[in-house]
Amino acid sequence: MIPDRPLRSATAFAPASIGNVAAGFDVLGHAMDAVGDLVTVTRSVERGVRIVSVDGIVGDLPGDPAANTATAGLLRMVDDLELSFGFEVAIRKGIPLGSGMGGSASSAVAGVVAASAVLDVPLSVDEQFTYAMVGEAVASGAMHGDNVAPILLGGLRLVRAIDPPDIVRVPVPAGIRCVLVHPMLRLDTRTARAVLPRQIPLSLHVRQSAELAGLVAGCFAGDVALIGRALADHVVEPARAPLVPGFHAVQAAARGAGALGCSLSGAGPSLFAWCDGDAMAAAVRAAMTAAFRAAGVESEAWISPVDCPGARIVETISG
Ligand code: HSE
Repeated sequence: MIPDRPLRSATAFAPASIGNVAAGFDVLGHAMDAVGDLVTVTRSVERGVRIVSVDGIVGDLPGDPAANTATAGLLRMVDDLELSFGFEVAIRKGIPLGSGMGGSASSAVAGVVAASAVLDVPLSVDEQFTYAMVGEAVASGAMHGDNVAPILLGGLRLVRAIDPPDIVRVPVPAGIRCVLVHPMLRLDTRTARAVLPRQIPLSLHVRQSAELAGLVAGCFAGDVALIGRALADHVVEPARAPLVPGFHAVQAAARGAGALGCSLSGAGPSLFAWCDGDAMAAAVRAAMTAAFRAAGVESEAWISPVDCPGARIVETISG
C-alpha cells in the first residue's frame, strides 16, 4: 500500500529470476522470490540521476548512472518526462553478479519501480517494463525481456514482443517449486551469449519449438508430466554447458533426485530445477549442491514457488 503522493523516497524490492526456462531462450522467464535486490530512490531538487551508495553483497558497481543497470532507465525517464527534479539512488545488491540469476534486470526493475513511486503520476506497467529494459541492456548488450518481465510482474511470463510490450502470464501449477543453485563462479552474460550458434538447422528449430510449446501447454493445462517431458533445451544449453564446471553431473543429480527438469538459469553458471512439491525440491537441492561439491565447486542454493510475486515497494518516506 503506497501512501498519498508525492513521496519523497521509496524503496523497491525486486526478486531474482530464471531466464529462458530451458527452451524459451530470451522469451520465457520466472521470478525467484527467495533472493533479490533493493533500490531506494529519493527525489532531489537537482535534476539528473546520482548514485549515492552501493552495498549488500556487491560494492563495486559502476558509479556512472549511464553505465549502471539500476539507473540507466532513470536517466531516460528524467529526459522523456522532462522532470523538474532528479533522483538520488541507493542500491543494495542481494543477487551475485554474473550468476545467471537476473541480477542486472532485478536492479533495473527495482530502480524503475521505486522511481515510479516517487513521481507525481506513476508509470504504467508497460512504461516500467520499457525503462527497466534500458537498464538491462546496459549489462547484457542485448534487448531481451525474459528477466525483466517476470521480475516486474511475478510468476512465469512469456515475452511475445518487447516494443510495444506484449507479455503473457503463464499459469503454473501451485505445487511447482524451483531450486536455484549458484556455483561460486562468475560468468558474464555477454561472454555466455558470444558462444551461441548464429544459425541452427531447421530440424533443431522444430525440436526446440515443440519443447517450448509443450512447456507452455503443460503449464496452462496443469499437466505436470508434460511439463517434465518438455523442460529441455537442445540449442542454447549444449553451447553453454562447457562454460560451467560440473554441469552434466549436477543436471544428472537433479534428475536422479526426481526433478521434472534441470537446465541453466539464464546465461548461467547457475542451474535451476523444477520440482513437484517441497519434499522433492529439498532432495533435489541437496543432490545438486553435492554434485557441484564433488566437481570441486562450492555453491549456494534457494527454493521458491515458480508462481511467486514480482517487484514491490517495501518502504516509503512521505514528502
Ligand atoms: N536470455 C538471456 C540469455 C538471459 O540467456 O542470454 C540472460 O540472463
